[in-house]
Amino acid sequence: MKFVAKTLYGLEKVLAEELTSMGASDVETVNRAVLFRGNKDLLYRVNYCSRTALSVLMPVGDFRIRSKDDLYKGGLKIEWDRIMEASDTFSVVPVINSPHFEHTGYAGLILKDAIADYFRNKQGKRPSVDTMDPTILVNLHISNDQVTISIDSSVIPLFKRGYRQEQAVAPLNEVLAAGILLMSGWKASSSLTDPMCGSGTIPIEAGLIACNVPPGKFRKFFGFQRWKDFDAELFNKIRQECNEKIGLSPVKVCGSDISELAVNQSMGNVSRAGLSDVISIKVCDFKDLKSTDNNGYVFLNPPYGQRLQPDELDGLYGMIGTTLKHNFPGNTAWLITSNKESLKKVGLKPREKHTLFNGALECTLLKYEMYQGTKKHENF
Ligand SMILES: C[S@@+](CC[C@H](N)C(=O)[O-])C[C@H]1O[C@@H](n2cnc3c(N)ncnc32)[C@H](O)[C@@H]1O
Repeated sequence: MKFVAKTLYGLEKVLAEELTSMGASDVETVNRAVLFRGNKDLLYRVNYCSRTALSVLMPVGDFRIRSKDDLYKGGLKIEWDRIMEASDTFSVVPVINSPHFEHTGYAGLILKDAIADYFRNKQGKRPSVDTMDPTILVNLHISNDQVTISIDSSVIPLFKRGYRQEQAVAPLNEVLAAGILLMSGWKASSSLTDPMCGSGTIPIEAGLIACNVPPGKFRKFFGFQRWKDFDAELFNKIRQECNEKIGLSPVKVCGSDISELAVNQSMGNVSRAGLSDVISIKVCDFKDLKSTDNNGYVFLNPPYGQRLQPDELDGLYGMIGTTLKHNFPGNTAWLITSNKESLKKVGLKPREKHTLFNGALECTLLKYEMYQGTKKHENF
């Protein structure tokens, strides 16, 4: 079976590695997605265990069009009765970049008609559309004249882990936080600090990695559970097998924030993730924080600037550089922000630079290595 795992821009490689380690074959990275092959077991496993997939789609139709009409004809050829019953509900999500369609919604309507007519022609009754809670979520992707029709096996995006019910201003997407951790080279044998932890996304994703907790453990629902061929016994077996591998964390993960509200919110989220024994959270201004480990990792997601004046923001980013230099010798620091201007005020030379997206927001991820005596203003 062919699958498409969608992810955030910049995380394709790390997702491909995850899929390969789970047993996927023919793994191929494309823009914001990874194509792979596998069986039903792998489909369930990826949904339950992948830290960097946003959703997993199963293509059911793939064809070229020369007109709008061709979309209807192609849609009608798919054996929809192998996928759903006439008594089921469905919804179509169109993602269109094609000269054949000026309006994305119109392409979705054509496919909806094709699905309804397929059943009406064959069985004399048709499935209803339910955009809020459909049995089957159909993804329609058209790029120029290439159409791919898929069924979404996740439905609720996989970044919605279920533990984050309280969130601070500008929280990181959970998939992005996990992706940064997996890209960073951090292993659960090194201590980890997030000194601007907000709602605690980075410490929680780190805690889940350290304890080998599947990120799907807190979710109540995956789209494939409503599929006609859903194998509940297989899914229970996979869940049990993965949950049995949960262990104790070899390291303590720390989070802190200047805001008492953010600290309270992250403590609630940590507790919902079952990680209160692994993660400690406290109120602290970053400038007052000192590393107790000369080989630790620091992950920073400072404010982007929505609520601060430009000079306050420059001061904050300048303080980050000074504090890293003086208080975190020997540590590796990763910083992600969308504020490119303030970033220059950090004044440390980055060893790596990556472009990532937090939702629609373009961000820069930088790696700094703090040697004893790292020169601030060495250059940028
Ligand atoms: C972009 S938010 C972090 C969001 C977080 N990664 C999450 O997923 O929820 C930035 C955080 O930096 C905190 N902050 C701002 N100045 C700080 C300082 N001097 N020391 C510590 N935390 C600070 C803010 O209170 C805010 O929670």
